[in-house]
Formats: sequence, structure tokens, C-alpha cells
Amino acid sequence: MFIINIKLSNLILPNYYDLLEDGIGEQLERSRKMFLRGGRFSGKSYFAAHFIILSLLALAAVHKDDEPWACCLALRKYSNTLKTSVYAEIANAIINLGVEDKFQMLTNPMEIRLKGTKSVIKFANLNTSEDYGKVKSIKWPGGYCRFIWWEEADQFQSKHDVDQILLSLYRGGDIFETIFTYNTPFSPSHWLNVGWRNEREMASEGRHEKVYFKHVNLYDIPRGIVPEQVYEMAEAMREDNLQEWRHIIMGEVR
Ligand SMILES: Nc1ncnc2c1ncn2[C@@H]1O[C@H](COP(=O)(O)OP(=O)(O)OP(=O)(O)O)[C@@H](O)[C@H]1O
Ligand SMILES: [Mg+2]
Repeated sequence: MFIINIKLSNLILPNYYDLLEDGIGEQLERSRKMFLRGGRFSGKSYFAAHFIILSLLALAAVHKDDEPWACCLALRKYSNTLKTSVYAEIANAIINLGVEDKFQMLTNPMEIRLKGTKSVIKFANLNTSEDYGKVKSIKWPGGYCRFIWWEEADQFQSKHDVDQILLSLYRGGDIFETIFTYNTPFSPSHWLNVGWRNEREMASEGRHEKVYFKHVNLYDIPRGIVPEQVYEMAEAMREDNLQEWRHIIMGEVR
């Protein structure tokens, strides 16, 4: 039922391959965390959404009766952006993969279910303290929250806030896959830039969690995917304001 034949290289760009060195789904022996940062139009959101759908399908194909089903929570700070960003990205991935018939997509409340399983993708915003309470009390009947996608992660207030949520979600299973996608914050003191500097040096050998740091930009994407107009805008920006280009397009810290 869940056997699908997909050529990964048509979906995942080469500069993202190393993130999948441990495979997708069942081969995974330890949890992983991915920090995907960079400039505009670098394929971060596309990768995250496709990765999640491919993973859920791969895991469903090998699911054993006594195991909890893998679920996903996609987070954005503001509720008014959920439907147009993470929900739309995930819906787009489902359509791109040609697996619409396998999913049930609900909009009120927003929820995407893998038919015939207890795998579900939920969506949440994290703005007020009430939102934090709501996320902590989400239930995953028959499953657990294996995938946690923090989209536009730079908008979240602090590492402390993010960790509070992760501590509520890391339960009910053994393998967790946490993905942060964001445009590099300008300020060197932003918590994500501090984390990038400090944690990149930390060896993950011997730890149960493998941490990946990937910096991407527009020029990493093969030509022909992003409209030419975007390259022209980027080039004009490079000439007009080099610092802005470095930040917005190349995703550099100030
Ligand atoms: N592997 C791919 N195959 C086909 N199209 C892709 C692929 N990766 C990215 N794209 C397309 O390239 C464009 C930029 O990708 P995406 O929106 O994921 O970038 P981003 O890094 O999230 O950008 P932003 O910083 O603006 O949020 C989108 O139109 C997306 O659909
Ligand atoms: Mg994006």
C-alpha cells in the first residue's frame, strides 16, 4: 500500500544530500537535528516539506504493529502565516510527489493525515503563553511527534522557549528529527547565530543526536528552478548595496 517509486535526485538538490547520509526513515539509529539557514530562495522550506512527507511514507512502509506511528508538528510563530506557509509547503510536497490519494488534508483544524495509519501532521503557532500551553497538551493518539519543523525559526524568541517545547515533544518514541529553517538573522547575538557558532564546534560522536548545520544560498540551486528575475534582482542588489546582498541573498551574519 505504501510502496512508491520515487527518484530522490529529482526532489532533493545535491547540496542537501549530506543531510540524508543516514537515510530516510527506518535506517535511522539516532535522532537528528538540522539547522538550515541562509539567504532567500535557497530551497530550505522546499527541502523540509519534501523530507517530512518522504519520511512519513518511508516509515509507514515498514511500520510494525507494536510501534507508535511517526507524526509531525510544523510550527510558526504567528497563526496567520500557518496556512500560507508550512501547510501550503507540505501540501505542495504531497502534490509534487503525486501522493494526494494517500493523504487526507483537513483545514479546520489544519491537519494532514496519512490514510490507513495514525501518522498525522499538525500545525501550531507559538506567539502567546497560551499557545505554548496548547502545544504542550497536543495528543498524538497511536503515534508520537517524531518530526518537528520550526519554519522561519529566527522569529522564535529564544533558545529557552524552543527548548521548552522540545522537552514537551521528545517523548513517546526514541528517534526525533528536528528541523530549523530560517533566513540567517542579521545580528551576531541572535540566539540562532550564537548557537551556530557554539554548537557547530561540538562533536556529536557518541551522542544520541546528530546535529547538522547547513548554510545555503540562491546560487546553490541549479539554474532554471528559480525565476530569472530573482537573479536579476539579486545582481542589482549586489551592485547597489553589497551589505544587503550579503545578508539577504547570501545569508551572511552582519
Ligand atoms: N528541489 C527542488 N526542486 C524544484 N524546485 C525547488 C527545489 N527546491 C526549491 N525549489 C523552488 O525554489 C524556490 C525557492 O525555494 P524555497 O521557497 O524552499 O526557498 P527558501 O530558502 O525557503 O526561501 P525563503 O528564504 O524565501 O523562505 C521555490 O519556488 C521552490 O519551489
Ligand atoms: Mg522558506
